Amino acid sequence: MSIYIGIIVIGIILVRQSLTKYNPVYVYSTIDLPPSQTGRIGNGTAFAERSWNNAMNRKLKVLGISGSPRTNGNSELLIQYVVQPFLENGWEAEILKLSALEVKSCDGCDLCLPAGECILDDDMSLFYHAFATCHALIIATPVYYRNISSRLIAVFERHYACRSQQPLRGKPGGAIAVGRSSGGGGQAIAVSIIHNWLLSCGAVCVPGELNGLTASADKPGDILLQENRLYQARILGANVMKIAERLV
Ligand SMILES: Cc1cc2nc3c(=O)[nH]c(=O)nc-3n(C[C@H](O)[C@H](O)[C@H](O)COP(=O)(O)O)c2cc1C
Repeated sequence: MSIYIGIIVIGIILVRQSLTKYNPVYVYSTIDLPPSQTGRIGNGTAFAERSWNNAMNRKLKVLGISGSPRTNGNSELLIQYVVQPFLENGWEAEILKLSALEVKSCDGCDLCLPAGECILDDDMSLFYHAFATCHALIIATPVYYRNISSRLIAVFERHYACRSQQPLRGKPGGAIAVGRSSGGGGQAIAVSIIHNWLLSCGAVCVPGELNGLTASADKPGDILLQENRLYQARILGANVMKIAERLV
């Protein structure tokens, strides 16, 4: 009798463990692209091979932007995870962290109009260069009052100076938002704001597992305890990379 009870208890423990541990089998995987007309792009090995060759031959680069003012904050950490699939496929990654950079907001002076250059002298020059040279981009923000961070808003505004060159036109982009609240914290709003800006720049919005990546985390580093969100960051990165491989 006690043997049967023991077997039942172990069974219950195993079932509970498999339900609580994030199991990728039960979620959407990365997007599956149909073979291209040349038949050279598929999934699995063929895709990986082409991806690697493409990245190495053409020096493909993904731009990661973290809008958090906090060093090693959750947004910065998610950006590190989201660029992993790119690095594993031979891409370069340029990561611009607004915790370490100073970007002023737009003055609306319109002096950028003739030359296409902003007269403000700050770290936005790094973004202008990165916009022009990247092949894909992923933007992460902390949720501040159901909005994106003011540091990220400043970067978005200052794109105005290079709008006629359209440096992001046709490039794929993804969005990440981290807020403290687990329900109604504004993560979805923040993702929409990033997507809307990407579309305004002519970029192509790419989904992660479902949409942009939304996460609930508070203190810097909290996100590292959430295996599922780190996994979803990789899905978002892989999806953006696959679309970029098609477009470049
Ligand atoms: C000024 C301010 C406003 C915030 N507003 C929200 C909010 O509206 N919704 C929410 O869920 N979290 C809010 N938070 C919490 C942050 O989004 C949360 O701590 C997040 O993890 C910060 O990301 P980071 O670690 O990348 O800096 C706010 C935090 C600050 C400092």
